[in-house]
Amino acid sequence: MSISLQQGAFIIAGLLFILALAGLSKHETSKRGNILGSIGMAVALIITVLATLLGVKSGGMAVTEALPIWGVAAILVPMALGAIIGVFRALRVEMTGMPELIALFHSFVGLAAVLVGWVSYLEGPPATNAGLHYGELFVGVFIGAVTFTGSIIAYLKLSAKMKSAPLALPHHNLLNLAAIIAFVGLTVWFVILPASHHVTAAGEAGGGSTGIVLLAVMTGIALLLGLHLVAAIGGGDMPVVVSMLNSYSGWAAAAAGFTLGNDLLIITGALVGSSGAYLSYIMCKAMNRSFISVIMGGFGSDGAVVGEAKDYGEHRETTAPEVADLLKNASSVIIAPGYGMAVAQAQGAVADLTSKLRTRGIDVRFAIHPVAGRLPGHMNVLLAEAKVPYDIVFEMDEINEDFSATDVVLVIGANDTVNPAALDDPSSPIAGMPVLHVWEAGQVIIFKRSMATGYAGVQNPLFFNENSAMLFGDAKVRVEDIIHNL
Ligand code: TAP
Repeated sequence: MSISLQQGAFIIAGLLFILALAGLSKHETSKRGNILGSIGMAVALIITVLATLLGVKSGGMAVTEALPIWGVAAILVPMALGAIIGVFRALRVEMTGMPELIALFHSFVGLAAVLVGWVSYLEGPPATNAGLHYGELFVGVFIGAVTFTGSIIAYLKLSAKMKSAPLALPHHNLLNLAAIIAFVGLTVWFVILPASHHVTAAGEAGGGSTGIVLLAVMTGIALLLGLHLVAAIGGGDMPVVVSMLNSYSGWAAAAAGFTLGNDLLIITGALVGSSGAYLSYIMCKAMNRSFISVIMGGFGSDGAVVGEAKDYGEHRETTAPEVADLLKNASSVIIAPGYGMAVAQAQGAVADLTSKLRTRGIDVRFAIHPVAGRLPGHMNVLLAEAKVPYDIVFEMDEINEDFSATDVVLVIGANDTVNPAALDDPSSPIAGMPVLHVWEAGQVIIFKRSMATGYAGVQNPLFFNENSAMLFGDAKVRVEDIIHNL
């Protein structure tokens, strides 16, 4: 394959990735963005695999050699296996299981970056610029290892296989700082180490194998740092961590691109890294969290844990026929959906209820909290899938002032995102997080199955307000009951 064909294809794939990101930033264009990104990835994969198998030529001279037959098998067999497992998982995953699956995928990117760095080191130094090569390799393995273990902890927390409360080791900020200082020191040492202490060009360890020891020690520190950074983050801050790990996985891929000399991997990694970092920044702003604090594993926080259960008094229960009557007499309704709507797969029923109420002339709107559900945009995706018109779906800041002039609010499977304790109780683990002011409406109906807490594990005083009533049961079944009674 000629080098110009390879580079031309890389430029096209890179452009498609940029167009994909632009498309994904709006509901209306997100499908197109997704398709463009998939085409870009297909181009990138096909060209990379062909270039690896056939070798690359420039002006008739071989830049890289074609692979022998065992090398072809060594690439195609694991690729086929990976593709089968990937398709199998993608077909089976529930929408509610997406965040943990994404976290698991991030861990693979991190692990791949660690392996690329190690293999590249064991192959020996390049003919020129060995210092630069060692520097980028060391940094790549560090970011990859942090991403690997951090993502595994995120996976365990998101899939509820590990408790979401923050781990608060004594002096946890100092531990993080010590790990970063050790990493910087080891990097300098590794880069300035005389060539004879590194693996030789023949792939053998030089005098004393100091390079391998430094790389191994740093890998161990980075693996522990990844574990600690994410374990120290509380449930309510997990959304930012997921997008932060997304960003780290991008930088890990970019570092692997430098090590492998693959321009497209550098571009793609940088796109993922910077867009993930920007998304984390936006989410931190929306949740009133310090960006630095979250990426440093709760740095600066006092390690607050979930508070004691408080006595808020009695809650009131209601029934589907009562809610149907309430809705018939309302002129304005706001629906605040949350993770429970996704669990119940109630979006279709909610869309039906919405259109029934609108045909009665009732003004129905949706209030979307930036971290409702378990994925950025989770609620928007579900509502779009159920064909709820975009123009009645509002972001928190656009609608928060309208609750006081609203007759009825239906809180469908939301909990933390409508918890007034975030505003009223400075000792709450979600203190300071902006929430939907649903309690300001005339009546608030809360759809959930029990009095259990939400993701952050904190009690919700909203449930005990005089203008609140609980409609217990699966959200989809209850919404259908209401439609039946309208
Ligand atoms: P949550 O606070 O997680 O509460 C969801 C509620 O839904 C639960 O209290 C649960 O109560 C109820 N529920 C579950 N299944 C249900 C069903 N079948 N029918 C009816 N109700 C059901 O939800 P939220 O308000 O959307 O807040 C999201 C939380 O997740 C925040 O803490 C956020 O920080 C965190 N988080 C978000 C993301 C992103 S990016 N969005 C990522 C990771 C974490 P019952 O069990 O009593 O039914």
